[in-house]
Amino acid sequence: MEGSLFVLLLLSGLFWSSSALSRPYHYINVRMSWPEAQSYCRERFTDLATVDSMDDVNRLVNIVDAGYSGSVWIGLKRGTQKRWGWSNGDDTLAQYSEWNEGHPNSEGECSYFAFGVWYSYPCSSLLHSVCYSVESAEYIRVQKWKNWTDAQSYCRQHHTDLATIHNSEEWNLIKSVIPSNSWVWFGLFLDSWEWSDKWSRFFRHWAAGQPSQSSGSGDCVGMSTADSGKWAQYSCDLQQPFICYGDKLNRKQIVRLKLSCKECTLNDPSLQTSILHEISEKLKSMGLESESKLSWRKREDEKVFDQESNYMANSNNECKKQ
Ligand SMILES: *[C@@H]1O[C@H](CO)[C@@H](O)[C@H](O)[C@H]1NC(C)=O
Repeated sequence: MEGSLFVLLLLSGLFWSSSALSRPYHYINVRMSWPEAQSYCRERFTDLATVDSMDDVNRLVNIVDAGYSGSVWIGLKRGTQKRWGWSNGDDTLAQYSEWNEGHPNSEGECSYFAFGVWYSYPCSSLLHSVCYSVESAEYIRVQKWKNWTDAQSYCRQHHTDLATIHNSEEWNLIKSVIPSNSWVWFGLFLDSWEWSDKWSRFFRHWAAGQPSQSSGSGDCVGMSTADSGKWAQYSCDLQQPFICYGDKLNRKQIVRLKLSCKECTLNDPSLQTSILHEISEKLKSMGLESESKLSWRKREDEKVFDQESNYMANSNNECKKQ
């Protein structure tokens, strides 16, 4: 008995975490600036869309109307500070790193390793690289001269991503695959962007040539539906459709009504329906109709209204008489 209860709790824990990772997305086919879209999503759902994997990218591409081939806002925006993180999204650098002395420095925003330590370096340099594959659970040496972005695309296309290193075991494994005098790109990069909901992970899906190094090329990020869901920078004032995530917020308001009617029964269902209809018409005229659902709240005995007794209503008068 205790055993099955434990399993049940375990299962509900699993379901909870998997649904937390698979965010429900909502395509909003209304053109707004990025800040307007952000407020819209925060009012009605959780926030503008946070994207954390290629699965998420594919789900986003699929919910945009087939007829629309432009770009849609997601929740990414230029941040106030830069942070080093892993290409696959992991945010584990605080737990494990093997930076060379004096690194990372301002020399570059990507990272290679050689001779057993890590260096920061300009992303446009051409080096060999190392990918990893989730499927075969191994690191793969790629002996092709590529800049960091092209190395990342190559790994994502043929394997899973550029190599991530979480601990000394993985670092030793990589070193056993790559000659120590070789300069090799791996998954570390300096990121300047942040999610609207402050999600701390680093998954990015930039289009070729993005993000641009030059300033003034836009501080907000849109997903191109034509370019297989790749991301690009735009001016935040641009008006375009967008994607929110989260469950629809159900805001319930309970209102108590006091009605009087002569020669009628308030607990008559048809009368109650027509009262609701009238309220609904009123809300419509205020522009609130599509957002709200109206219903009566019933008591245990199925009645909606309580009759105020005359005795209660008159009790003051009776007191005076005495
Ligand atoms: C990498 O090379 C591609 C062309 O192969 C280019 O479009 C891209 O801008 C380069 N990226 C960097 C960071 O230099």
